[in-house]
Amino acid sequence: MIGNLNHVGVATPSIEDSVKLYRDMLGATSIGETFAMEEQGVWVCFVNLPNSQIELIEPYGETSPIRAFLEKNPKGGQHHVCFEVEDIEAARDALVAKGATVLNGGKPRIGAHGVPVIFVHPKDMGGVLVELMNRPEGKH
Ligand code: CO
Repeated sequence: MIGNLNHVGVATPSIEDSVKLYRDMLGATSIGETFAMEEQGVWVCFVNLPNSQIELIEPYGETSPIRAFLEKNPKGGQHHVCFEVEDIEAARDALVAKGATVLNGGKPRIGAHGVPVIFVHPKDMGGVLVELMNRPEGKH
């Protein structure tokens, strides 16, 4: 059911500091602008790699859902992995039928790439928070 790994989500207390790591330590040359996703309570910045992306996420606002993660992991850390699927609703239905817990009541939301996404609870995925996203238009 899953296709390409689209990105790895990395929570950080400072996107600015994390960008320095990916740029200066690892030599990443293509790094996008930082933008706010108010409804999700995060600042987002993509580090572009030849075959994937790192999605840097920093809390936006006091009620950001990643604040709790950063309390447990003050330096930040790997937060989720995101795979592309052909049909987000079919993927959601298949997962629910297999007993998985899909966050947000199973309702897809528009993610940082502008396409619908869902998250599968880590308790059903060996401790890994899994994001599934509709494959972006025109990408194969
Ligand atoms: Co993501």
